Amino acid sequence: MASLSAQIPLCFALMMATWLFIGVNGSIKGGQREFDYFALSLQWPGTICRQTRHCCSSNACCRGSNSPTEFTIHGLWPDYNDGTWPACCARSQFDVKEISTLLDALEKYWPSLYCGKSSTCFSGKGLFWAHEKHGTCSSPVIRDEYSYFITTLNLYFKYNVTKILNEAGYVPSNSERYPLGGIVSAIEKSFRATPEVACSKEAVEEIRLCFYKDFKPRNCLSLETSCPKYVSLPAYVSMGSGESESDTAWISESDDEAL
Ligand SMILES: *[C@@H]1O[C@H](CO)[C@@H](O)[C@H](O)[C@H]1NC(C)=O
Repeated sequence: MASLSAQIPLCFALMMATWLFIGVNGSIKGGQREFDYFALSLQWPGTICRQTRHCCSSNACCRGSNSPTEFTIHGLWPDYNDGTWPACCARSQFDVKEISTLLDALEKYWPSLYCGKSSTCFSGKGLFWAHEKHGTCSSPVIRDEYSYFITTLNLYFKYNVTKILNEAGYVPSNSERYPLGGIVSAIEKSFRATPEVACSKEAVEEIRLCFYKDFKPRNCLSLETSCPKYVSLPAYVSMGSGESESDTAWISESDDEAL
């Protein structure tokens, strides 16, 4: 992957498209070659929620005291070793009924952290994961919608990055700076492969864990990082649900009630 910052806007652009999913025969239509490895992309709510200025009900940044305080899932992305990724795979309709038993877990561990208004939330379609088109490109390793989501959740539970960092002393803080190298080596020690870390200014925004197609850990590709040598891991601060443009996040009981 060339860079995370390049991928994320593209990812969002593609989310606008209809859910595409591979047919049961596992063939990739449209002549795209099979991907090489997976990246489990995790996002840090403390950093992303700081950018929230407006809230909609599906934005987990706006859940007050129930807002996430751990890394949450951004997606499981199939990638090529040359730094690119398959973009357009075979079509199949996203069907929320297929993952009805996973919805509670998805709401909790794979929430949207972005939208400000329901009307603009992923083109008004609401569900964050309904736009994760990456499942469609994960064939033939992952063959259907349910498998894509349960596989991703299981990897997320197995490698608890929040726990790894906390145990190494990297706890959420709005004043500390931590060495990027320390964060990377804490993960390497536990995960036994090198992750990729992306930042928004100096704050950790995403951590990616990479996997071979049999889900054994492997090094991520990117030698570049958008992070400085010392990074922060901001603590979550509840966002107001109103129209406040204030840079200072704030908590009030009336906001929690409104959510
Ligand atoms: C990760 O570990 C922490 C303990 O450090 C725990 O509270 C949390 O529930 C774990 N998260 C998941 C998704 O298992």
